[in-house]
Amino acid sequence: MALRDDDAVLFVCLGNICRSPLAEAAFRSVIGEYGIAPQIDSAGTGSWHVGHPPDPRAQAVARRNGIEIGHYRARRIGPEDFARFRHIVVMDHANLDTVRQARPSGARAAVSLLLDHVPGRVGEAVADPYFGDDEGFDLTWRDVHDGAHALARRLAVGEI
Ligand code: 4NP
Repeated sequence: MALRDDDAVLFVCLGNICRSPLAEAAFRSVIGEYGIAPQIDSAGTGSWHVGHPPDPRAQAVARRNGIEIGHYRARRIGPEDFARFRHIVVMDHANLDTVRQARPSGARAAVSLLLDHVPGRVGEAVADPYFGDDEGFDLTWRDVHDGAHALARRLAVGEI
């Protein structure tokens, strides 16, 4: 197996109540298929929802896909995360800019967009579903599901 012990993965969005908890959940659910067992967490760049469970619509779409995330709690990304995680995987470009600016020079963490790992979707964002409807959350789930499989495959084969 190509995985190194230090291949920890942190998923990041704005609030840590919609996209990144869903990415975390999707990734946790697929890593076994790829024979990898990295440390996994998620965080937001904003602090409005710190300590809150995922948005009820995010909990619902996870449940529709067989995963319970009601026990997750939002937190904000901090400087220590750039040392703790080898991969910081971000949902959209605004948060990518924020994370890149916060990244200490020489930090071990590699920063990417989730959909950068999906063939044919390099540079695409996972759209923010917060101000939309339930259909938006189904689209979010499809994106994070595809991203989770692609990321797990790349880690498993040692491509990243
Ligand atoms: P997330 O969605 O970044 O996917 O967790 C959002 C959650 C909260 C807000 C915006 C986006 N907000 O403005 O409070």
